[in-house]
Amino acid sequence: MSQKVFIFDTTLRDGEQVPGCKLNTQEKLALAVRLEELGVDILEAGFPVSSPGDFESVNQIAKTLKNTVVCGLSRAVQNDIEVAAAALKPAKRFRIHTGIGTSDLHIKYKFNATREEIIERAVSAVKLARNFTDDVEFYAEDAGRTDNEYLARVIEAVVKAGATTLNIPDTTGYCLPYQYQAKMEYLVNNVKNIDKAILSCHCHNDLGLATANSVAGVMGGARQIECTINGLGERAGNTALEEVVMVLNQHKDLGYYTNINTRLLNPISHEVAEIMRMGVQPNKAIVGGNAFSHSSGIHQDGFLKEAQTYEIIDPELVGAEASKIVLTARSGRSALAHRLQKLGYQYTRNDIDILYPTFLQLADKKKEVTQDDLVEIATSYSK
Ligand code: KIV
Ligand code: ZN
Repeated sequence: MSQKVFIFDTTLRDGEQVPGCKLNTQEKLALAVRLEELGVDILEAGFPVSSPGDFESVNQIAKTLKNTVVCGLSRAVQNDIEVAAAALKPAKRFRIHTGIGTSDLHIKYKFNATREEIIERAVSAVKLARNFTDDVEFYAEDAGRTDNEYLARVIEAVVKAGATTLNIPDTTGYCLPYQYQAKMEYLVNNVKNIDKAILSCHCHNDLGLATANSVAGVMGGARQIECTINGLGERAGNTALEEVVMVLNQHKDLGYYTNINTRLLNPISHEVAEIMRMGVQPNKAIVGGNAFSHSSGIHQDGFLKEAQTYEIIDPELVGAEASKIVLTARSGRSALAHRLQKLGYQYTRNDIDILYPTFLQLADKKKEVTQDDLVEIATSYSK
């Protein structure tokens, strides 16, 4: 039987931290409603103590969402936790996400503290948060660079204090997939009562490995992935929601499923790009403009014979426009015949052989041969 992986969306918190992506309360609320429709299990609505505007956004989202768990971020600081609890209070179900840096770099330079002091602060924060809700997530910031033995001690202490989800962030996107998987496995095998909580992946994309690391984390025992639409997030971004969801969806052999309505992935990606004024690169997996375009002759010929030769996902499944045959100087006769046929021109193989050199001459001059160009080629041929 396949197992559920919870999707924790942080587009409105880690995603919104991107310079230029800041949203006002109305914009955040509108996106939160769409993310609930998408089927995210937990929605991190913001960092309530960070500004009055963010408090208001989290509070409005908490009042509005119906089924999704609404989450607010806090540091392991009393006032942060109390303010987060106040903002989240109206929610049907809410989670406080609190935590502290655990790598030696963070302990020394950010906190000027000792490892034992960090454990004490982590435990106090979790205990305080438990006064407001029984759904408390703890993050061990920079867990990716925290040594496993110490990380296991921190995690065991916070589980004992009442944390129900354990976020193991690869904050700097440093880990390799096998290392991140091994980290999860180490925690599964070395933390007392780990089965009472859910391990969570939170991966950044500094080396382009966020999606691979999140999948590896799940294979190592995590059952929650923290991610954002279009992979937005600090620096090179976070794990892209659409990517991890489709990896688990297409690889049923792994044995996991999510609650995401995949048909909304492209529409919501476009909405996020527009509202955050942050376009999506054309070659982006699942939601990029070229994700379902075929332009070389070899690919086009195979695709036209059987789509699965060059497509592993039906675009309809992810709410994308139908696959496109783009005409360039690398296109072959079958692509040209296909596009002309779609415009209503019924040509024989011999006609196409005659038209093809004219097409290539034009294609060599232009980046792409358009529909208007095709009509012109066809019109001059029939004159
Ligand atoms: O990347 C990170 O470590 C974070 C934490 C605040 C969860 O975003
Ligand atoms: Zn992060």
